[in-house]
Amino acid sequence: MPGPNSPYRSRELLRSFPARASHKELGMEIKMNEKLIWRLAGIVRDSHHIVFFGGAGVSTESGIPDFRSVDGLYHQHYKYPPEQILSHTFYMKKPEEFFRFYRDKLINPDVLPNKAHKVLAKWEAEGRLKAVVTQNIDGLHQAAGSKKVLELHGSVMRNHCEKCGTPYGVEIVSETAGVPICPKCGGRVKPDVVLYEEGLDMRTVEESVSEIRAADTLIIGGTSLVVYPAAGLVDYFRGKHLVLINKSATHVDSDAELVIADSIGEVLSAADALL
Ligand SMILES: NC(=O)c1ccc[n+]([C@@H]2O[C@H](COP(=O)([O-])OP(=O)(O)OC[C@H]3O[C@@H](n4cnc5c(N)ncnc54)[C@H](O)[C@@H]3O)[C@@H](O)[C@H]2O)c1
Ligand SMILES: [Zn+2]
Repeated sequence: MPGPNSPYRSRELLRSFPARASHKELGMEIKMNEKLIWRLAGIVRDSHHIVFFGGAGVSTESGIPDFRSVDGLYHQHYKYPPEQILSHTFYMKKPEEFFRFYRDKLINPDVLPNKAHKVLAKWEAEGRLKAVVTQNIDGLHQAAGSKKVLELHGSVMRNHCEKCGTPYGVEIVSETAGVPICPKCGGRVKPDVVLYEEGLDMRTVEESVSEIRAADTLIIGGTSLVVYPAAGLVDYFRGKHLVLINKSATHVDSDAELVIADSIGEVLSAADALL
């Protein structure tokens, strides 16, 4: 958390900007956020151990829908709600339906990393950022070149045979139909994705906690912060600068030194250009 004397703590500066209106609503283009982006650039320059904590909103600009935005998966119509389909019970009981939804909505073979993924990878290469902790399962941070990516909910890029354990890439799902079957033993292939009702990998959680604890700056972006236990990890932050970049409000906004309610790709690349 920023100390009382931190130059970025000033609420006065923030107060002159509506904290949660998008630039489109105000008809002021990106200028509205210009001062906030300058402040973000200042924070990044001042930091040696940035950790980024993100979610589905980081990938919407790559064309992958998130869950809770108006055009997100939760607002589209399915026979079952997405959180039910993506549960362990559903996977066990109705694997065909599970894989129909999963292949259709969560496997996106043609998508590319966007500006947000690229800037984060660049900041890691420059030594400013030490880890990306993500709830995403799309592998786009790695595709952008990020090395230290802690995937709290696993990845669609990894799969394994439930029977013989053989690991497979994404092709075993993306290039097949129906329930994917292990060519070696005929067992069912399961994505290494944490389904609802399943526990998170403890090593990944512990590493995420230790990265967040060690961070001097935590940038949270593209997440509604409502999926637990993942969202609870941000509470371990003890550093100087807490930044929120999210189009809609979160429960952590009031604790943050800087809240930017705008496109994460645009905000991060604009800040990067000022470094
Ligand atoms: N790409 C993926 O891997 C993917 C896609 C959908 C859901 N999921 C998973 O489902 C769960 C959903 O929780 P969640 O909190 O990550 O997502 P969420 O859908 O609950 O919230 C996404 C948040 O991002 C914001 N947002 C959307 N686009 C944005 C943009 N361009 N710039 C800034 N903010 C933007 C929205 O306002 C929203 O608050 C997570 O486990 C998530 O990983 C993953
Ligand atoms: Zn097998």
